[in-house]
Amino acid sequence: MAISDDFLTELRSRVDTEDVISSYINLKRRGKNLIGLCPFHNEKTPSFTVYPENGSFYCFGCGAGGDMVTFIRRIENLDYVEAVKLLADRVGMKMPEDGYDDTLSRKRQRIHEANREAARFFHTQLLKSENEFALSYFTKDRALSMNTVRHFGLGFAPNSWNMLLNHLQSKGFSLSEMYEANLIRKSEKENGGYYDAFRNRVVIPIIGVRGNIIGFGARVLDDTKPKYLNTNDTLVYKKSKEVFALNFAKSSGERRLILCEGYMDVISLHQAGFTYAVAGCGTALTQEQAQLISRYADEVILSYDSDEAGQKALQKAISIFSQLGLKIKVLELKGGKDPDDIIRKYGKERFKALIDGAANDLEFRILAEKEKYDITSDDGKVRFLTAVVDILSREENPIEREVYVSRIANELSVDKTAINLQLKQTIEKRRRAVEKTKFGEMQKSLRFQKDEINPEKRDNIRAAKAEEAIITLLMNNNEFYNSLKNELSEDLFVTDFNRRVFSAVINRLKDGKFVDIEHISGMFNPAEVGRITQMYMNRKAFLNTVEECRDCIAVLHREKEAKALKNQNFDDDSEWLKSFESLKERKQ
Ligand code: UTP
Ligand code: MN
Repeated sequence: MAISDDFLTELRSRVDTEDVISSYINLKRRGKNLIGLCPFHNEKTPSFTVYPENGSFYCFGCGAGGDMVTFIRRIENLDYVEAVKLLADRVGMKMPEDGYDDTLSRKRQRIHEANREAARFFHTQLLKSENEFALSYFTKDRALSMNTVRHFGLGFAPNSWNMLLNHLQSKGFSLSEMYEANLIRKSEKENGGYYDAFRNRVVIPIIGVRGNIIGFGARVLDDTKPKYLNTNDTLVYKKSKEVFALNFAKSSGERRLILCEGYMDVISLHQAGFTYAVAGCGTALTQEQAQLISRYADEVILSYDSDEAGQKALQKAISIFSQLGLKIKVLELKGGKDPDDIIRKYGKERFKALIDGAANDLEFRILAEKEKYDITSDDGKVRFLTAVVDILSREENPIEREVYVSRIANELSVDKTAINLQLKQTIEKRRRAVEKTKFGEMQKSLRFQKDEINPEKRDNIRAAKAEEAIITLLMNNNEFYNSLKNELSEDLFVTDFNRRVFSAVINRLKDGKFVDIEHISGMFNPAEVGRITQMYMNRKAFLNTVEECRDCIAVLHREKEAKALKNQNFDDDSEWLKSFESLKERKQ
């Protein structure tokens, strides 16, 4: 079962590769290709390359690669059919009626629908007169307007074990659908039934970037613990990958985002007009969340709580974002515990002033060091300077470094050249250390890393290389098949992965069909597609001849014979054993 070639070909011709990929990352032109920072691993210099010519991409840093469908599968966490559908929607093509298995995507859709219905239910409950206390928690205790309540679709889950369950059932949702949406949970008791996941809590819907309700955060109305219950991970929601309110913030028209810790901070900030505020979902900031944020912003304003936990989280966020190359600003929430608190105590102007006066992360770190030392003493001065030099040595922008060196030289009345010399030495030392560990890691990974995709390659390197050459030669030159069809066979292949790829290729060629990466990408997972693309990349510069393919076939024959020889020795042993056994029998 597969989506028809005609459909895929049409899709490929309509999809603008550059347009699609640059809606996720910034691309720069390099010749006829484009390059950018890879969205699938951490890097500071771009190794992610886009080939508009054939609608493909490849990252020389991490090996991610493939056609556009594979790109969408990876970046949007979708399965193959869903990714095709997303691209088709984008260019206004209707999906074919059949030819594919969309069970998973239908399941996801049902979860989205159940969530939407649940959100509607919670919102209606919030507005009921008997639940006045819940609404007034939002409008009085948290000073939210009715507009904000509606905008965020806030709700209330009544104090009942089954009101939502019954409601969803009346709307045609099955227990298993509700359970998969994590809207109901199963009792641990023997013969225990299902019960509503959220009870007697105000509810905040979490909306994905594409506008679906993907989960909920539910807060108690008082001080009981736990403060929040969140949707557990489901088919549509991985909390480590989602960012709250990004659906609103992404269209704020700003290329910057305020990142806070809490849902309530975000809601309060949006109400005050800072519609570019977001928060992580129920966890400390993850790499994936930061990567998602970096798709929509060039600058992130970190607005973490002023308590100890908040400051610790802040340090982690700084280190994650600076690795991603985002500009960072750090808000110091003087006089309040969190953004919501500041706004309610002092108003939005104060918050605006905090943003305008916010230190960038360098400034922030230097200030933090300054507080540690007594810079009126010589000893304190030296220690402070050492710390500053260490911080500045990590800054890549020389102008930025220069600004701080001058500023600090002035402030401490020390010679600028002395600081610069120290700085230069530290940078050099760091560079060497980094190179050394990089080299060490590379060696280590070469030696120990298991090849997850083709585990047999390591022990059959010669065969695997020949196999890969055959595959790419055929994919690049479909017409070779006619001359080679009597010589090619799956039996020649030694490694399972390459045999699978070869089968996919050859099965199309047998039927007289073209084969390119997009025709077979649906049969492999994205990491595997990356490997196939890598084969391509490694081969591009070689001769492309039938003879070369024949040579590779010969290599595989030789490898096979060598293997057979090894096995033969083993067979001889068993022959010997057999005759020994029969000898024993005769003796008896
Ligand atoms: P906060 O305690 O700062 O929450 O936790 P908040 O949203 O600011 O709520 P208020 O202002 O105290 O009412 C920050 C975030 O940590 C997660 C939630 O995502 C919360 O928004 N969290 C916190 C949980 O998931 N569970 C908890 O029990 C507490
Ligand atoms: Mn708070």
